[in-house]
Amino acid sequence: MAGLTLRSVQKRFGTVEAVKAVDLEVADGEFIVLVGPSGCGKSTLLRMIAGLEEISGGEILLDGRDISAVAPRDRDMAMVFQDYALYPHMTVAENLGFALKMRDLPAGDIAQSVADVAKMLELDALLERKPKALSGGQRQRVALGRALIREPEVFLFDEPLSNLDAKLRVGMRMEIRKLQMALRTTSIYVTHDQIEAMTMADRIVVLKLGEVQQIGTPMDIYERPANSFVGTFIGSPPMSLLPAELRREGDEAWLVFGKGQEVKLPAARMKALESVDRVEVGLRSEHVSLVSQRRGAGSAFDFSSDIVLVEDHGADSIAVVLLGGREIMARVKPGAVHVGDKECRFQLDVDRIHLFHPTTGAALV
Ligand SMILES: Nc1ncnc2c1ncn2[C@@H]1O[C@H](COP(=O)(O)OP(=O)(O)OP(=O)(O)O)[C@@H](O)[C@H]1O
Ligand SMILES: [Mg+2]
Repeated sequence: MAGLTLRSVQKRFGTVEAVKAVDLEVADGEFIVLVGPSGCGKSTLLRMIAGLEEISGGEILLDGRDISAVAPRDRDMAMVFQDYALYPHMTVAENLGFALKMRDLPAGDIAQSVADVAKMLELDALLERKPKALSGGQRQRVALGRALIREPEVFLFDEPLSNLDAKLRVGMRMEIRKLQMALRTTSIYVTHDQIEAMTMADRIVVLKLGEVQQIGTPMDIYERPANSFVGTFIGSPPMSLLPAELRREGDEAWLVFGKGQEVKLPAARMKALESVDRVEVGLRSEHVSLVSQRRGAGSAFDFSSDIVLVEDHGADSIAVVLLGGREIMARVKPGAVHVGDKECRFQLDVDRIHLFHPTTGAALV
């Protein structure tokens, strides 16, 4: 049982504020992903939790106990690093068993634990090899095994998959998640890859320049981004952002894109727009649909555009089209449109598009 609490945790390196007053409550057994662009403070925050980096302010509690000053080895946390950090002169079996040997456990117990973990991670056949005779994926499994064998209260992962090729990464992220769900060990996982964050997390913490932007479940963050940074950082293909003026007439309002392409807003969205006369509109590809694909020619549409580019993704395609002179992306059926097609009709899902404050970027909801 291990819940983790961060209270106003800060880190300064000289004048650099790497982490600014982070508050986070991690439930026992929860899988939290810290995500954000390079340099946003993810590793620093994780290393403070591990005790590898001193905190400049705030406190860290494990099950309600302040561990801010506890040495790393006494925190009962196991960390997995991006570069695996295996002992090159030891075999896989010795690497796996090392932490238990340091605890002076009987050789028989160590051998049993090594065998169990090796089986779990399909390393049985590799136990006598040295790390240099392993593939990247196998090394990463050994690194994971070294953390698992310690049966810690908390797992800490710092970009453990970023040295693997794309296919292996997808396989390993599922393996890690399955293992974690079976063991129910509280986990904090750092990545700059928003797809890893979306697919693995119980809850995501989005960081930017050392500051928490939003904390929520993957679907919360995807569907209700707190600001335009979160909106554009999470999601693939990325959300398009484009400026629009608001034109009001009585109780009604229209978004005006570029030189006069207008889209009517539903009444339910008006309340949040009282204080602004222009907005930043966030469009995900699934908010933009081809009208003829759904309803046949002649039905209502919001704008028409030539097709700038089509990317086939197999199950669906992404078409790059123009709205108000800006490129946006539309999700279409494969083969529905082709590069160079003229005047294709599109509709926006105005109930679901995102509206952000034109200067602060905060979501207008
Ligand atoms: N020892 C240090 N001394 C000075 N500045 C540091 C030190 N360690 C990190 N920083 C700075 O703190 C900020 C956060 O770094 P951190 O390594 O936590 O980022 P990150 O989010 O893990 O990035 P990446 O995705 O590139 O690994 C950066 O601006 C970095 O330059
Ligand atoms: Mg890092």
